[in-house]
Amino acid sequence: MNIILLGPPGAGKGTQAKRLEERHGIVQLSTGDMLRAAVASGTPLGREAKAIMDRGELVPDAVIIGMIEDRIGAADCARGFILDGFPRTVAQAEALDAMLAERDLRLDAVIELAVDESALVERIAGRYTCAKCGAGYHDRFLQPRVAGVCDQCGSTEFVRRNDDKAETVRTRFGAYRNQTAPILPYYRARGLLRSVDGMADMDAVSAAIDRELSLSEAVGNRH
Ligand code: AP5
Repeated sequence: MNIILLGPPGAGKGTQAKRLEERHGIVQLSTGDMLRAAVASGTPLGREAKAIMDRGELVPDAVIIGMIEDRIGAADCARGFILDGFPRTVAQAEALDAMLAERDLRLDAVIELAVDESALVERIAGRYTCAKCGAGYHDRFLQPRVAGVCDQCGSTEFVRRNDDKAETVRTRFGAYRNQTAPILPYYRARGLLRSVDGMADMDAVSAAIDRELSLSEAVGNRH
Protein backbone atom coordinates (compact mmCIF):
# COMPACT_ATOMS: atom_id res chain seq x y z
CA MET A 1 0.00 0.00 0.00
CA ASN A 2 1.48 3.37 -1.04
CA ILE A 3 -0.03 6.43 0.61
CA ILE A 4 0.49 10.20 0.74
CA LEU A 5 -0.44 12.14 3.89
CA LEU A 6 -1.16 15.80 3.14
CA GLY A 7 -1.85 18.71 5.45
CA PRO A 8 -0.36 21.96 6.75
CA PRO A 9 2.37 22.11 9.42
CA GLY A 10 1.10 20.52 12.63
CA ALA A 11 -1.82 18.72 10.94
CA GLY A 12 -0.63 15.40 12.39
CA LYS A 13 1.08 13.86 9.33
CA GLY A 14 4.08 12.57 11.29
CA THR A 15 1.91 11.29 14.16
CA GLN A 16 -0.39 9.38 11.84
CA ALA A 17 2.43 8.14 9.57
CA LYS A 18 4.11 6.48 12.58
CA ARG A 19 0.82 4.86 13.59
CA LEU A 20 0.24 3.57 10.03
CA GLU A 21 3.77 2.18 10.03
CA GLU A 22 3.02 0.22 13.23
CA ARG A 23 -0.43 -0.98 12.14
CA HIS A 24 0.32 -1.92 8.54
CA GLY A 25 4.08 -2.59 8.42
CA ILE A 26 4.67 0.01 5.72
CA VAL A 27 7.52 2.52 5.90
CA GLN A 28 7.23 6.21 6.81
CA LEU A 29 9.20 8.40 4.39
CA SER A 30 9.35 11.87 5.92
CA THR A 31 11.28 14.42 3.86
CA GLY A 32 11.37 16.70 6.94
CA ASP A 33 13.04 13.94 9.02
CA MET A 34 15.50 13.18 6.20
CA LEU A 35 16.45 16.86 5.96
CA ARG A 36 16.81 17.20 9.76
CA ALA A 37 19.09 14.12 9.76
CA ALA A 38 21.23 15.76 7.04
CA VAL A 39 21.37 19.00 9.07
CA ALA A 40 22.36 17.10 12.24
CA SER A 41 25.18 15.25 10.47
CA GLY A 42 26.43 18.46 8.80
CA THR A 43 26.43 17.14 5.21
CA PRO A 44 26.63 19.69 2.33
CA LEU A 45 22.91 19.06 1.70
CA GLY A 46 22.20 19.64 5.40
CA ARG A 47 24.14 22.91 5.41
CA GLU A 48 22.22 24.13 2.35
CA ALA A 49 18.85 23.05 3.76
CA LYS A 50 19.29 24.42 7.30
CA ALA A 51 18.98 28.11 6.46
CA ILE A 52 15.96 27.47 4.22
CA MET A 53 14.20 25.35 6.86
CA ASP A 54 14.95 27.87 9.62
CA ARG A 55 13.19 30.51 7.49
CA GLY A 56 10.20 28.16 7.01
CA GLU A 57 10.58 28.08 3.23
CA LEU A 58 10.64 25.04 0.93
CA VAL A 59 13.90 23.32 -0.02
CA PRO A 60 14.41 23.23 -3.86
CA ASP A 61 12.40 20.55 -5.69
CA ALA A 62 15.46 18.89 -7.29
CA VAL A 63 17.03 18.18 -3.88
CA ILE A 64 13.84 16.69 -2.46
CA ILE A 65 12.97 14.64 -5.54
CA GLY A 66 16.46 13.08 -5.50
CA MET A 67 16.05 12.13 -1.81
CA ILE A 68 12.73 10.37 -2.42
CA GLU A 69 13.96 8.66 -5.57
CA ASP A 70 16.79 7.11 -3.54
CA ARG A 71 14.33 5.78 -0.93
CA ILE A 72 11.27 4.38 -2.72
CA GLY A 73 13.27 1.69 -4.49
CA ALA A 74 14.91 0.45 -1.25
CA ALA A 75 14.16 -3.07 0.04
CA ASP A 76 12.33 -1.83 3.16
CA CYS A 77 9.72 -0.12 0.95
CA ALA A 78 8.74 -3.35 -0.82
CA ARG A 79 5.53 -3.67 1.28
CA GLY A 80 4.67 -0.03 0.72
CA PHE A 81 5.36 3.46 2.02
CA ILE A 82 3.70 6.49 3.57
CA LEU A 83 4.91 9.77 2.11
CA ASP A 84 4.87 12.35 4.93
CA GLY A 85 5.66 15.89 3.76
CA PHE A 86 6.14 14.93 0.10
CA PRO A 87 5.03 15.98 -2.48
CA ARG A 88 4.74 19.64 -1.52
CA THR A 89 4.63 21.29 -4.97
CA VAL A 90 2.99 20.38 -8.26
CA ALA A 91 6.49 19.77 -9.72
CA GLN A 92 7.16 17.23 -6.92
CA ALA A 93 3.79 15.53 -7.54
CA GLU A 94 4.60 15.21 -11.26
CA ALA A 95 8.08 13.85 -10.50
CA LEU A 96 6.54 11.31 -8.11
CA ASP A 97 4.15 10.10 -10.83
CA ALA A 98 7.10 9.59 -13.18
CA MET A 99 9.19 7.67 -10.61
CA LEU A 100 6.26 5.43 -9.67
CA ALA A 101 5.50 4.68 -13.33
CA GLU A 102 9.17 3.78 -13.93
CA ARG A 103 9.01 1.24 -11.09
CA ASP A 104 5.57 -0.08 -12.02
CA LEU A 105 4.18 1.17 -8.70
CA ARG A 106 0.96 3.05 -8.00
CA LEU A 107 -0.52 5.28 -5.34
CA ASP A 108 -3.40 3.78 -3.37
CA ALA A 109 -4.62 6.92 -1.65
CA VAL A 110 -3.85 10.53 -0.84
CA ILE A 111 -5.19 11.37 2.62
CA GLU A 112 -5.74 15.03 3.43
CA LEU A 113 -5.81 15.88 7.15
CA ALA A 114 -8.33 18.73 7.14
CA VAL A 115 -7.54 21.11 10.00
CA ASP A 116 -8.29 24.54 11.37
CA GLU A 117 -5.05 26.52 10.94
CA SER A 118 -5.69 28.69 14.00
CA ALA A 119 -5.61 25.64 16.31
CA LEU A 120 -2.35 24.38 14.85
CA VAL A 121 -0.13 26.99 16.44
CA GLU A 122 -0.82 25.43 19.88
CA ARG A 123 -0.08 21.96 18.49
CA ILE A 124 3.22 23.10 17.01
CA ALA A 125 4.33 25.24 19.94
CA GLY A 126 3.72 22.37 22.40
CA ARG A 127 5.51 19.71 20.41
CA TYR A 128 8.82 18.07 21.46
CA THR A 129 10.62 14.80 20.78
CA CYS A 130 12.94 12.44 22.60
CA ALA A 131 16.53 13.41 21.74
CA LYS A 132 17.56 9.75 21.69
CA CYS A 133 14.83 7.78 19.86
CA GLY A 134 12.73 10.54 18.28
CA ALA A 135 9.42 9.57 19.95
CA GLY A 136 7.03 12.52 19.73
CA TYR A 137 5.26 14.21 22.66
CA HIS A 138 3.16 17.30 23.33
CA ASP A 139 2.99 19.58 26.41
CA ARG A 140 -0.79 19.19 26.52
CA PHE A 141 -1.99 16.43 24.18
CA LEU A 142 0.58 13.65 24.62
CA GLN A 143 2.75 13.61 27.72
CA PRO A 144 5.14 10.78 28.68
CA ARG A 145 3.63 8.35 31.25
CA VAL A 146 6.36 9.38 33.74
CA ALA A 147 7.06 13.13 33.54
CA GLY A 148 10.40 13.86 31.88
CA VAL A 149 11.10 10.22 30.89
CA CYS A 150 10.62 8.88 27.35
CA ASP A 151 8.04 6.04 27.22
CA GLN A 152 9.93 4.30 24.42
CA CYS A 153 13.59 4.37 25.49
CA GLY A 154 13.77 5.85 29.02
CA SER A 155 15.87 8.85 27.95
CA THR A 156 15.42 12.11 29.89
CA GLU A 157 16.60 14.40 27.09
CA PHE A 158 14.10 16.09 24.81
CA VAL A 159 14.41 18.57 21.93
CA ARG A 160 12.21 21.16 20.22
CA ARG A 161 12.47 22.06 16.52
CA ASN A 162 14.19 25.28 15.41
CA ASP A 163 11.43 26.06 12.92
CA ASP A 164 8.61 25.83 15.49
CA LYS A 165 8.94 29.52 16.46
CA ALA A 166 5.73 31.52 15.85
CA GLU A 167 7.21 33.71 13.09
CA THR A 168 8.64 30.74 11.14
CA VAL A 169 5.38 28.84 11.57
CA ARG A 170 3.56 31.70 9.79
CA THR A 171 5.94 31.40 6.81
CA ARG A 172 5.41 27.60 6.78
CA PHE A 173 1.62 28.06 6.68
CA GLY A 174 2.08 30.51 3.77
CA ALA A 175 4.21 27.98 1.89
CA TYR A 176 1.48 25.37 2.42
CA ARG A 177 -1.29 27.65 1.14
CA ASN A 178 0.64 28.94 -1.88
CA GLN A 179 2.78 25.99 -2.97
CA THR A 180 1.28 22.80 -1.50
CA ALA A 181 -2.51 23.30 -1.47
CA PRO A 182 -2.52 23.44 -5.33
CA ILE A 183 -1.70 19.72 -5.39
CA LEU A 184 -5.08 18.86 -3.80
CA PRO A 185 -6.98 19.37 -7.10
CA TYR A 186 -4.18 17.43 -8.87
CA TYR A 187 -5.03 14.30 -6.83
CA ARG A 188 -8.78 14.99 -6.68
CA ALA A 189 -8.84 14.88 -10.49
CA ARG A 190 -7.26 11.40 -10.34
CA GLY A 191 -9.88 10.13 -7.86
CA LEU A 192 -7.21 9.49 -5.19
CA LEU A 193 -7.97 12.25 -2.68
CA ARG A 194 -9.69 11.36 0.63
CA SER A 195 -10.24 13.91 3.36
CA VAL A 196 -10.40 13.13 7.09
CA ASP A 197 -11.11 15.43 10.04
CA GLY A 198 -7.64 16.14 11.44
CA MET A 199 -9.13 18.10 14.37
CA ALA A 200 -10.51 14.95 15.99
CA ASP A 201 -8.43 13.22 18.68
CA MET A 202 -5.48 11.14 17.50
CA ASP A 203 -7.24 7.75 17.82
CA ALA A 204 -10.30 9.01 15.94
CA VAL A 205 -8.06 10.35 13.14
CA SER A 206 -6.29 6.95 12.91
CA ALA A 207 -9.65 5.15 12.71
CA ALA A 208 -10.89 7.54 10.00
CA ILE A 209 -7.71 6.99 7.96
CA ASP A 210 -8.13 3.20 8.22
CA ARG A 211 -11.73 3.52 7.05
CA GLU A 212 -10.62 5.60 4.04
CA LEU A 213 -7.85 3.11 3.22
CA SER A 214 -10.23 0.13 3.18
CA LEU A 215 -12.45 2.20 0.94
CA SER A 216 -9.55 2.94 -1.42
CA GLU A 217 -8.58 -0.76 -1.52
CA ALA A 218 -12.17 -1.74 -2.26
CA VAL A 219 -12.38 0.81 -5.09
CA GLY A 220 -8.89 -0.19 -6.38
CA ASN A 221 -9.85 -3.89 -6.41
CA ARG A 222 -12.91 -3.24 -8.54
CA HIS A 223 -10.72 -1.75 -11.33
P1 AP5 B 1 8.21 18.83 7.88
O1 AP5 B 1 9.08 18.17 8.87
O2 AP5 B 1 7.54 17.99 6.85
O3 AP5 B 1 7.19 19.74 8.67
P2 AP5 B 1 5.66 20.17 8.39
O4 AP5 B 1 5.01 19.75 7.14
O5 AP5 B 1 5.69 21.63 8.66
O6 AP5 B 1 4.87 19.33 9.36
P3 AP5 B 1 5.13 19.11 10.86
O7 AP5 B 1 6.17 18.06 11.06
O8 AP5 B 1 5.34 20.43 11.55
O9 AP5 B 1 3.71 18.63 11.34
P4 AP5 B 1 2.94 17.25 11.19
O10 AP5 B 1 1.80 17.44 10.24
O11 AP5 B 1 3.87 16.10 10.93
O12 AP5 B 1 2.33 17.17 12.65
P5 AP5 B 1 2.75 16.26 13.90
O13 AP5 B 1 2.30 14.86 13.69
O14 AP5 B 1 4.18 16.49 14.26
O15 AP5 B 1 9.04 19.93 7.08
C1 AP5 B 1 9.92 20.83 7.74
C2 AP5 B 1 10.64 21.69 6.71
O16 AP5 B 1 11.44 20.84 5.84
C3 AP5 B 1 9.75 22.47 5.73
O17 AP5 B 1 9.34 23.71 6.29
C4 AP5 B 1 10.68 22.64 4.53
O18 AP5 B 1 11.63 23.64 4.75
C5 AP5 B 1 11.42 21.30 4.49
N1 AP5 B 1 10.74 20.28 3.65
C6 AP5 B 1 10.24 19.08 4.08
N2 AP5 B 1 9.69 18.41 3.06
C7 AP5 B 1 9.84 19.20 1.96
C8 AP5 B 1 9.45 19.05 0.60
N3 AP5 B 1 8.78 17.98 0.17
N4 AP5 B 1 9.74 20.07 -0.26
C9 AP5 B 1 10.42 21.17 0.15
N5 AP5 B 1 10.81 21.37 1.43
C10 AP5 B 1 10.53 20.38 2.33
O19 AP5 B 1 1.80 16.91 15.02
C11 AP5 B 1 2.07 18.18 15.58
C12 AP5 B 1 1.80 18.14 17.10
O20 AP5 B 1 0.40 17.99 17.32
C13 AP5 B 1 2.48 16.95 17.80
O21 AP5 B 1 2.97 17.38 19.05
C14 AP5 B 1 1.36 15.92 18.01
O22 AP5 B 1 1.55 15.18 19.20
C15 AP5 B 1 0.12 16.80 18.08
N6 AP5 B 1 -1.02 16.17 17.43
C16 AP5 B 1 -1.03 15.43 16.28
N7 AP5 B 1 -2.29 15.02 15.98
C17 AP5 B 1 -3.09 15.52 16.95
C18 AP5 B 1 -4.50 15.44 17.21
N8 AP5 B 1 -5.33 14.77 16.37
N9 AP5 B 1 -4.99 16.10 18.29
C19 AP5 B 1 -4.15 16.79 19.13
N10 AP5 B 1 -2.80 16.88 18.95
C20 AP5 B 1 -2.28 16.26 17.87
